[in-house]
Amino acid sequence: MDVFEAIEKRTSIRSFREEQIKDSELELILHAAERCPRIGSLDIIVLQDREKIAKISDAAKEAMIAAGGWVRGRAQTPGYNPLYKAPTVIMLYGRPGQPFLETTTGIATGMMIMAATALGLGSVTVSSIRHGFSSPKGKELYDMLGLSRGEEVLLSLSVGYTDDPTLHEMKGSSRNNVAIVRD
Ligand SMILES: Cc1cc2nc3c(=O)[nH]c(=O)nc-3n(C[C@H](O)[C@H](O)[C@H](O)COP(=O)(O)O)c2cc1C
Repeated sequence: MDVFEAIEKRTSIRSFREEQIKDSELELILHAAERCPRIGSLDIIVLQDREKIAKISDAAKEAMIAAGGWVRGRAQTPGYNPLYKAPTVIMLYGRPGQPFLETTTGIATGMMIMAATALGLGSVTVSSIRHGFSSPKGKELYDMLGLSRGEEVLLSLSVGYTDDPTLHEMKGSSRNNVAIVRD
């Protein structure tokens, strides 16, 4: 699949089969992050431990419900699971204050999404896990991942094979606002 086909095919996938992705596929996805333009280093943890993934997901959901408002409504959607029970969760973290950390993280995530799409895998970017990491259960989660409190989990990417690309679909209606200035 060339890059333009992958761009057309890419969409957030929120329903995953239990089957784990191949190590060779994971390597190609991580290589895409390795190849991303960056300022500073990228810190990544790949979780393929279902129990640990469930712990992070449960803590995020609990914290989302406690947060109230739109976030609570989302967390209470029937069948909602913040990480969508993906067999692989790629978590990006770093030390706040590192220049352009969020930007580099976002670019790396985008590169990994394109690699996953080109491999025929489904993926969804998930920021909701931050609710769990900043909640009272956060310390337990940081300890579980071997991270210090000076490090912050920024974003994660749930990856796996899908049977149902439209389940839990959540399309925003916003469009890009593009201006082209030519001479
Ligand atoms: C920074 C960022 C954080 C996101 N966080 C979540 C999330 O926590 N949960 C979720 O289901 N989708 C999340 N998304 C996915 C968006 O909801 C999705 O990209 C958007 O609705 C457009 O749909 P599409 O990706 O299928 O085109 C996130 C996307 C971005 C860029």
